[in-house]
Amino acid sequence: MTETTNVETMIWQGGVSGCLDMIDQTKLPTEMVRIECEDVETVWEAIKMLRVRGAPAIGIAAAYGVVLGLQSAEEGEEAFFSRLNEVVDYLATSRPTAVNLFWALDRMRRLAEQERVNFAGGEQLRESLLTEAKAIHDEDRQMCHAIGGHGADLLKGVEGVLTHCNAGGLATAEYGTALSVFFTAQDRGQSLHVYVDETRPLLQGARLTSWELMQRGIKATLICDSMAAQVMREGRVQAIVTGADRIAANGDSANKIGTYSLAVLARAHGIPFYIAAPSSTFDLMIESGDQIPIEERGSKEITHGFGRQTAPDGVEVYNPAFDVTPADYIHAIITEKGVIDPVNRETIDHVLGVV
Ligand code: MRU
Repeated sequence: MTETTNVETMIWQGGVSGCLDMIDQTKLPTEMVRIECEDVETVWEAIKMLRVRGAPAIGIAAAYGVVLGLQSAEEGEEAFFSRLNEVVDYLATSRPTAVNLFWALDRMRRLAEQERVNFAGGEQLRESLLTEAKAIHDEDRQMCHAIGGHGADLLKGVEGVLTHCNAGGLATAEYGTALSVFFTAQDRGQSLHVYVDETRPLLQGARLTSWELMQRGIKATLICDSMAAQVMREGRVQAIVTGADRIAANGDSANKIGTYSLAVLARAHGIPFYIAAPSSTFDLMIESGDQIPIEERGSKEITHGFGRQTAPDGVEVYNPAFDVTPADYIHAIITEKGVIDPVNRETIDHVLGVV
């Protein structure tokens, strides 16, 4: 097993006319392939097809996608802003659930609008937008490390943990959210044994999380999603930590399909269930999880997963990619600003510093 440096999910290459280099996560764990996105369409496709995935990483990719989309903007203020709106609206159609996508796009559009009064040509504004995309990227890196510190404090004395999907370096700028908690605990000398849900149907747990943990020399045991109850019953885990894609004002949290059932199981077994997420994953404009749009994906992800037909032709399929865990089932939410415990509107506002 090899210890490696942090995974660089995305790298911006060059200046304002450069391109976005990213790991094609659909190829992991058997191949490490990097792709170069030279236009906004390639970024859109990469988000849609989960070549880049995970809420914070989607936001970062979209921010760079705005810069790429504006490389072909015609000169002049009107043309520039018309192209900006077109590019932002287009990227917003790539995936609906992770709010980080819309948060990053809003931030890019806001920056451009602020600088509009001093418009001195597209080149200058493209420079400012690239700086903003890099800031979003860099801030995410810092938020992940802060989340790790707060979360590791909660895991003192814990030996076994369980996670779902991939909320690691691949899903963020680096280091991750849920996985950053484990990485930080390890950096502090704690030995953790992480049970990893394989995460049907696209196997982000099996393909990505177990790979990241093994890269760092953390003990990882892969299980099928349906085995989590037995693992809890046998006393193998004392905490569950997952990421989130969108957290409503009341703390209801959307994450990869299967997260909700884990939280219910955790309650049944008296095990704390934690969400680790940066402030960019909160959508305080919506009251509860009922208003979170849940992405539905194609039936082939279930009937023809990874190249083999496993269901009869013509079978009806329902494939929601996310579910919503009610706040009541969440022991605490670990953010870069501190730990939200208990989880309710007041504590969320307090920790996030909302006035
Ligand atoms: O469909 P995905 O792979 O993008 O789903 C990702 C998740 O559900 C993650 O847990 C979430 O985005 C948090 S990533 C830090």
